[in-house]
Amino acid sequence: MAEVASRFQQLRDQNEWVDHLVRAGARYTERHGNDHAAAVTYFSVLSLVPVMMVAFAAAGFALGARPAAVERLQHEITTEWPGALGDTLNTIINQAISSAATVGFLGLLAALYSGIGWMTNLRDALSAQWGHLPTPPPIVKRVPLDLLALLGLGLALTVTFALTGLLTGFAAIDAHCPHAAGPLADGIVADSCVTCPLHGRRFDLETGLALNGDESVAVHEVRVDGDELWVRLA
Ligand code: FES
Repeated sequence: MAEVASRFQQLRDQNEWVDHLVRAGARYTERHGNDHAAAVTYFSVLSLVPVMMVAFAAAGFALGARPAAVERLQHEITTEWPGALGDTLNTIINQAISSAATVGFLGLLAALYSGIGWMTNLRDALSAQWGHLPTPPPIVKRVPLDLLALLGLGLALTVTFALTGLLTGFAAIDAHCPHAAGPLADGIVADSCVTCPLHGRRFDLETGLALNGDESVAVHEVRVDGDELWVRLA
């Protein structure tokens, strides 16, 4: 055992990076890195619930603003899944629309709680690892500061997504699905594709090709000029 220890010490003496890794690991453990990681993870997982609630509410608001699309969607659901499954799905859609405001409000409250908890624990963990702030600030100062940091982080993320969307987010394709003239303008856009609300064919917004079929839609060239958007019809 003593021989292994002395070899290991030799290895550390000969390789600076090994010594650095060992010291980093020891400091991480000494400063309760695992406990802090567990706390941050707990609040990260907890925040999934309000994120889902807000997403559910957003879907409810989006559907509520398009009654014609909802009617078509529910008609298609009933056609594709007649019976109990179709009824259940349609009930979920109706509930999403009718309770969007309540679920969204509760989701935001829960997001506030889990977000502040996440930020507080992240700050404590980083402070502990860096050896700063031996005593945490009083709660009246801490909560507003953490809230501010959380809002700053949220703002930074929003701006990042908005800029990404602005720089990459314009595409123009035909409004009618080649399969059965479904309204592609009402389709959901995700992963550079639009999904036809009638039968679910997905079209790549860059190539116009269907991912799950042989059809394709015409893609029109888009140009952004200052605050104007130009579309050249193909
Ligand atoms: S109309 Fe059938 S998938 Fe679009």
